[in-house]
Amino acid sequence: MKTITVNGRDVQVDVPDDMPLLWVLRDILGMTGTKYGCGIAQCGACTVHVDGDAVRACQTTIGALGNSKVTTIEGVGETPNGKKVQSAWLGKEVVQCGYCQSGQIMSATALLDHIPHPTDADIDDAMSGNLCRCGTYGRIREAIHAAATA
Ligand code: FES
Ligand code: FES
Repeated sequence: MKTITVNGRDVQVDVPDDMPLLWVLRDILGMTGTKYGCGIAQCGACTVHVDGDAVRACQTTIGALGNSKVTTIEGVGETPNGKKVQSAWLGKEVVQCGYCQSGQIMSATALLDHIPHPTDADIDDAMSGNLCRCGTYGRIREAIHAAATA
């Protein structure tokens, strides 16, 4: 049995060390806001925060977490920048099918946590690992700028 901290809450999970965090979140904890896309760190759909950094939950094993704190899309709205990003997402009507958007919001929030007023180049760099088949990139960029000045 291991204890992990997810969205500020300690939870116990009985899983092997090499199980990906994404599996634990979705299948063990029932937190399905974090999406499975590619499983090989190419699409960004599974992005969560580990100690404030955007990471791919499909490639992060539970054994590698140690005492790190995990934040998911279910909890990011409780953080100052997460709240601003979610509000800007609604304001700019970013979402189309929605599948990629949990990961996009997690990456955008981590960006603002590290660079409060990002340039277009900063945004493109930080968001380059999050793919959107619906092509919402323009509105994502607008929403990040809006969140940065909110
Ligand atoms: S599912 Fe993790 S990056 Fe695609
Ligand atoms: S909104 Fe559909 S994949 Fe991004």
